[in-house]
Amino acid sequence: MTGEGGMDGGATGGGATGSGEAGGAAGHGAVLRAVGLSKAYRPRGFRGEAVWALRDVSLAVPAGDRLGIVGESGSGKSTLARLLLALEEPTAGSVLFNGTPVSKHDRPLVAELRRSVQIVFQDPLGSLDPRMRIGDSIAEPLRALRIAGDHEARVAELLEAVGLPLRAARRYPHQFSGGQRQRIAIARAIAPHPRVLIADEAVSALDVSVRAQVLNLLDSLVEHFGLTLLFVSHDLGVVRHLCTRVAVLWQGRLVEDGPADEVYEQPRHAYTAGLLRAVPRLAVLAAAQRAGAAATAAPPRTEPSTPQPDEEER
Ligand SMILES: Nc1ncnc2c1ncn2[C@@H]1O[C@H](COP(=O)(O)OP(=O)(O)OP(=O)(O)O)[C@@H](O)[C@H]1O
Ligand SMILES: [Mg+2]
Repeated sequence: MTGEGGMDGGATGGGATGSGEAGGAAGHGAVLRAVGLSKAYRPRGFRGEAVWALRDVSLAVPAGDRLGIVGESGSGKSTLARLLLALEEPTAGSVLFNGTPVSKHDRPLVAELRRSVQIVFQDPLGSLDPRMRIGDSIAEPLRALRIAGDHEARVAELLEAVGLPLRAARRYPHQFSGGQRQRIAIARAIAPHPRVLIADEAVSALDVSVRAQVLNLLDSLVEHFGLTLLFVSHDLGVVRHLCTRVAVLWQGRLVEDGPADEVYEQPRHAYTAGLLRAVPRLAVLAAAQRAGAAATAAPPRTEPSTPQPDEEER
């Protein structure tokens, strides 16, 4: 049985490489950059006060960065992700993609952004079509983005990269465990050779040992494909696992942005200190990570009661 699959990933082939662009706080050469980004949501009928989901957020994402975006529920993390993906328009400010301001009227730029920046959400059941075979789901962005090539071969490569057997391609989402579905969502996201991967609470719904395994998979894929990572989470412990830089959102404002070690050791904002105090789970996660690493050597335990592809076929 494969269980959750090997964490060394077997990531293969292709993909962007970290291109040594100048990055840093100034954001020169940033793949993505938010400049004074604000977003207000107006209640229906324009009655009542607008909700400012994001207020004047400026943030550069240099190529190769591993940026954690943290904050409590409602702090604006997903709004920031949607704006960076140009899925929504800012109320004020702008998003720069490779230095060019993104406008919905600039279709070639938006198309390139949509290929280059991919996202994985918390709930893979919500993002995978239940009637579509896994192979078709993974190949779907290739078709949608009109990326030429042998899609079947690419699907095989991607399944291997995320530690799933080839025969998973013929199956449906409900036939997999939560962790496996998240692997499928990750395969789908990296299918079009993105430069940037956004994970929005991508491991939050997984139980702790499976979470560690999927985090390790993300880690190895980011490394192998030279991806730039934006890892959105309410959980500072999980972010520490994966990110070298941390940005903290509080009520839509960016209150902290710095190297992970500094933010964790010497948070500048009281809110960050509060978030850190609320995370007594670092030790637990470290233990889970060790368990995950051990599970690479021995087949890991997976979520109960969900059929495993390997077991089913034998
Ligand atoms: N489409 C929308 N219409 C109205 N209000 C919205 C919309 N999307 C987000 N909001 C509001 O904007 C604020 C920020 O929401 P957002 O989803 O970005 O937070 P979040 O940090 O991702 O939270 P969570 O951790 O719960 O996912 C919240 O007050 C939310 O209610
Ligand atoms: Mg969110």
